[in-house]
Amino acid sequence: MAMIAWKCPDIQVTVVDINALRIDQWNSDDLPVFEPGLFEIVEACRGKNLHFSTEVDDAIAAADMIFVSVNTPTKTYGVGAGRAADLKYIELCARRIAAVATGKKIVVEKSTLPVRTAESLKTVLMANSSGAEFQVLSNPEFLAEGTAMTDLENPDRVLIGGETTPEGVKAAETLASVYEHWVPRDHIITTNLWSSELSKLVANAFLAQRISSINAISALCEATEADVDEVSYAIGRDSRIGPKFLKASVGFGGSCFQKDILNLVYLCEHFGLPEVAAYWEQVVIMNDWQKRRFSQQVVKSLFNTVADKKIAVFGFAFKKDTNDTRESAAIYVCQNLLEEQAHLAIYDPKVSEDQVRVDLKQREVLCDGRLNDLVMIEEDPYAAARDAHAILILTEWNEFCALDFQRIYEGMHKPAFLFDGRNILDLEALRTIGFEARGIGR
Ligand code: UDX
Repeated sequence: MAMIAWKCPDIQVTVVDINALRIDQWNSDDLPVFEPGLFEIVEACRGKNLHFSTEVDDAIAAADMIFVSVNTPTKTYGVGAGRAADLKYIELCARRIAAVATGKKIVVEKSTLPVRTAESLKTVLMANSSGAEFQVLSNPEFLAEGTAMTDLENPDRVLIGGETTPEGVKAAETLASVYEHWVPRDHIITTNLWSSELSKLVANAFLAQRISSINAISALCEATEADVDEVSYAIGRDSRIGPKFLKASVGFGGSCFQKDILNLVYLCEHFGLPEVAAYWEQVVIMNDWQKRRFSQQVVKSLFNTVADKKIAVFGFAFKKDTNDTRESAAIYVCQNLLEEQAHLAIYDPKVSEDQVRVDLKQREVLCDGRLNDLVMIEEDPYAAARDAHAILILTEWNEFCALDFQRIYEGMHKPAFLFDGRNILDLEALRTIGFEARGIGR
């Protein structure tokens, strides 16, 4: 919405939420999300054509177009628990829009949703409205965190799904005209509603599949002394394969990949396609295995015990340039090591101490309620590594490449282990210093 406000000075954008704290944060100098370049744009537009408010009903009444961008977490209860998307927030939102809206409104679903949600959205809107006319569009978002602003500014494509009726086509054109302020027309794709909804799930499934594929090969590389980075480079030079999303890692995280694949799996099961469901589920199973394999390798290398040993964790976010920790591989690796009674000293340049503690608390029972004794959050990587037996690189922050590893090595217990879960460091140089250095698949 900030990008739309920035690119379309003629459009008034109002972002509403029932969470007053969130809205206060959006109105402050301390935005609730860290994203390079976001603050500058918000600051330039706020109070002009970008507004943050808790006056939900007023905003619905005033708008021609309403973007629904609420949470769609994986269901934790009832039918489809652990797989299906929880649509309760979408439904509540639709009921509120229906209760307040009058006249013609275009409702755009921006949240990632299972296929055919637009239909439910439309049904709830129609059944509850008092005379308003709704057109429902699907407009999935493909930005990645950490690069959100550049992704929004130069999208590979903008996808708009709508009904094929004349009114549906007109609504899709209206939304396209918003993006046309800065996106070339041939980058704006229009499809039917279901294709648009499904494309988002499939794009994420294909991207995650590439990571699980290369991570599977990383295990084979470790067994055979091939180097996974060399394999990635060699296969990525095939223009049919391409070089992106082939970086072996400790495992993918983020709010989307796992959730969207599980959604796809649920859909396939629902439509009686168990083989297709199992095929895609394997992408998630492989990712879980990769995270576990990494933790097991740490324990095994440290002579089969990490109990009461200090281990430094560099990076907790699910990728660099974000403070988001949702489904971060770091959470799982730390939990595995806490279960083994390790002492963790965690450093991340952007993730807050509170967030790390909240993420690890869910599994406190695994370490007999000793979480606060076992976990230290450090504000400096050198302090985190002092007297440690091992360092784990779990997020690929650029600053980790510039650390003085000689100095770090001198302060550590020997043998000093380093496990690079992101393949960002020069292992040979680290070995020359004296580290027992391991990467992923090399
Ligand atoms: C993803 C999609 O890329 C985006 O199009 C969609 O809108 C939302 O989901 P995001 O989760 O923000 O975006 O980040 P992404 O860059 O895709 O990374 C996801 C995870 O995969 C991260 O943990 C990242 O470290 C990992 N990853 C990515 C790898 O391990 N190897 C790679 O080669 C690429």
